[in-house]
Amino acid sequence: MNSRPRKIVCIGAGYVGGPTMAVIAARCPDVQVTVLDLNAERIAAWNSGSLPVFEPGLPEIIRQVRGRNLHFIPQAQGLAALAEADVVFISVQTPTKTSGAGAGKASDLQFVEACAHLIAQQARGHTIVVEKSTMPVRAAERIQQILSANQTGGTFAVLSNPEFLAEGTAIRDLEHPDRVLIGGEDPAAVAALKSIYAAWVAPEKILTTGLWSAELSKLAANAFLAQRISSINSLSALCEQTGADVAEVAAVVGTDSRIGPKFLQASVGFGGSCFQKDLLSLIYLCEHHGLPEVAAYWQGVVDINEWQKHRFAAVVQQAAANRRVAVLGLAFKKDTNDFRESAALAVCRRLLQSGLEVVAYDPRVDGTRFAAELGNPSHFSVASTAAQALAGAGAVAVLTEWDEFRSIAWASAKLSPGAMVCDGRNVVDRTAVRQAGYGLRVIGSAAP
Ligand code: UDX
Repeated sequence: MNSRPRKIVCIGAGYVGGPTMAVIAARCPDVQVTVLDLNAERIAAWNSGSLPVFEPGLPEIIRQVRGRNLHFIPQAQGLAALAEADVVFISVQTPTKTSGAGAGKASDLQFVEACAHLIAQQARGHTIVVEKSTMPVRAAERIQQILSANQTGGTFAVLSNPEFLAEGTAIRDLEHPDRVLIGGEDPAAVAALKSIYAAWVAPEKILTTGLWSAELSKLAANAFLAQRISSINSLSALCEQTGADVAEVAAVVGTDSRIGPKFLQASVGFGGSCFQKDLLSLIYLCEHHGLPEVAAYWQGVVDINEWQKHRFAAVVQQAAANRRVAVLGLAFKKDTNDFRESAALAVCRRLLQSGLEVVAYDPRVDGTRFAAELGNPSHFSVASTAAQALAGAGAVAVLTEWDEFRSIAWASAKLSPGAMVCDGRNVVDRTAVRQAGYGLRVIGSAAP
């Protein structure tokens, strides 16, 4: 089939599936797009005025297409759509395995495999099955096996179409991608999927590769990005020792056109659902294929990230003028409500373990869910404004680069006398902190 698909289903209404399908529906009004999810509450939220994902620009698109050619349906009620679909995207989670072979490193494909079983049982006619979730190399082989062992008359082509969007800029990334990657061995299926993206993406930006290259390219791209952050974070520690300033070093290094300026912002450590998981998956693949030196190289990127989070927590702990620490920012970066693997989780755990009281503020993160993730510790509470979190604190830990943290009125912040502001993102107004009489530590800077 190389005509343009008319019916698309996406299994998984998360941070990738929801926004991606919304943009496809907006750009291809002639295509019916149905998003399924096992979680009926999440589907209800997608159908409500309060979307489960915070993304700038997303509500406007949803308002335009929902009910027109974009439909959110609980999975159990969406089987008819699945049966009729020309293309089914699998966009479910592939978390790091917690038990069994490869625990702690390998990606857990149980949710993907369950999707493959479901598609095999429901699909009629010819269906293009697209891996949208980030998968280990050769995951498509497993999907193909499940489809052919369980099919009830349908035929299938499997493609890899990894998503490169970043949270917080998902709509911009989807509408103006650096590239769209389609990996596959079936030219008709590749052409059909290409025809969807061609509605708004220039042909030279739609890259086609073999299946295994596409799967590995996604892991490699995330590993390279994470490696840049660990590289600059490793130097942030050296800057603090030598008097160099990491922001100045990054600016100079980034002007080399071979290196480029992006992803050189020193931080308290990268977080999010992708970098660590994908690095661990890459490391596991290298070990599995007998390449311990390559595995060790990438493990270094993970290790520096862990070290950076703990190094910063230790600074806050030592600097605290009393037992109360204000944590500003719980999200793994600004403009998202996502705190998966955020530096804040690691830093809060460490501060609480050392007996400190933590009062946290984040403009978007649901504090109740964050507290639950920490195990609802008694010395952790959530403030509804930054000023509330700051009142009486003996130390401040800035962990997310939210814009509002750039313009905090330090002069009127009621910190404890002698309090130390520890900036893990290099966003606070240094002069204002100093003028207010507080101490200041900034990641990668010896004398801020
Ligand atoms: C990442 C990739 O960018 C995206 O292409 C892929 O599809 C999914 O994984 P995401 O995790 O949403 O996207 O966020 P990203 O903007 O890459 O940031 C990841 C982490 O790195 C954040 O914690 C961020 O604060 C941190 N970061 C980023 C730095 O510490 N310094 C930088 O210079 C850039």
